Amino acid sequence: MKFNWNYPTTVWVGENRINELSDACKNLNLTKPLFVTDKDLINLPFIKNIVSKNLKKFDNFTIFSNFTGNPTGENVDEGVEEFKKNNCDGVIAIGGGSALDVGKAIAFMSGQNRPIWDFEDIDDYWKRANENKISPIIAIPTTAGTGSETGRASAIINKKTGVKKIIFHPKILPSIVILDPSLTIELSPRLTAATGMDALAHNLEALCAPNFHPMAEGIALEGMKLIKNSLLKAFKDGKNIEARQNLLAASSMGSTAFQKGLGAIHSLSHPVNAQFDVHHGLSNAIFMPYVLTFNKSSIENKIISICDYLDLEKNFDSFLKWILDLRKNLNIPNKLSDVMDCSDLDLDKLSLMAFEDPSTTGNPKKISKEDLKLMYQHSISGELFK
Ligand SMILES: [Fe+2]
Repeated sequence: MKFNWNYPTTVWVGENRINELSDACKNLNLTKPLFVTDKDLINLPFIKNIVSKNLKKFDNFTIFSNFTGNPTGENVDEGVEEFKKNNCDGVIAIGGGSALDVGKAIAFMSGQNRPIWDFEDIDDYWKRANENKISPIIAIPTTAGTGSETGRASAIINKKTGVKKIIFHPKILPSIVILDPSLTIELSPRLTAATGMDALAHNLEALCAPNFHPMAEGIALEGMKLIKNSLLKAFKDGKNIEARQNLLAASSMGSTAFQKGLGAIHSLSHPVNAQFDVHHGLSNAIFMPYVLTFNKSSIENKIISICDYLDLEKNFDSFLKWILDLRKNLNIPNKLSDVMDCSDLDLDKLSLMAFEDPSTTGNPKKISKEDLKLMYQHSISGELFK
């Protein structure tokens, strides 16, 4: 058996480190950045102030923010056009997962001749890319969830098929990441909860994925501990800088750890996110207990082995109870049918999409399309697996 382990990049962590953005650019010889950020974010007075203060230090920069919450290939194409038109030499991506994913994809695609779908995360497709033409990326997350800043992929929707595709290249990994908790203090409790549960899903699924990767497991467990200690604190008091910093760290750790694999939580989520625009972290949080109980026979020993470290009673049910209580305390609904109309859902179609999702192969229990359909049904009825 052969395994490839990859570890993240330069990460600058701490309150107000956003003010070192120009140093980061100097380190990378970046003089004409394309600044990629969410529309809504740039209009928040607090972020606007910080960003404009930092942008004043540049002679030349272009802002690109014309993309949606679940970004599409067309969004990336438009960003690449802006990049080329303004002779940019790198990308500063600041925002939630969408901004980081779009920014990374623009830096990647700015030097490629093939369509973006040719670089889907299948086999060695990434080797089709001209890697000398990938522009440097600085990533600055303003949510603590996707961990896209330490990931080597972008999730982009193919509008023609309605499927969220994972675009992968080892060099899409940002060269410098700035984790500044002051940028996340205005995140609403609702988004703090949903993004935090996405980070938890990454760490949890990575921990349970069957591949041999003890380094990723260690990171995943510590990531879960940080979330257990900090998510509710940040939810209740957004200005708690220590909790915010812990969540940013846990988020980066989750995406580092999930090179080990994800699982059915993400397989079930991706089709629902792409087809019905349900927030990714929210759907992960909803699916989590159904997938955990479905997988119980394959993960019980592992879950019991981490209970001590998470200050939980040493059994599977206490872990499950922690997840259920956490969801409740974060005001996360229990069922998929609480967040979208499920009466006319084509579960066969959704289950097939879920089955074909790359996350499926990381699930600790081997699963079929029928298993995924069953998990959708339980998440709609609210009944956990026995
Ligand atoms: Fe995720």
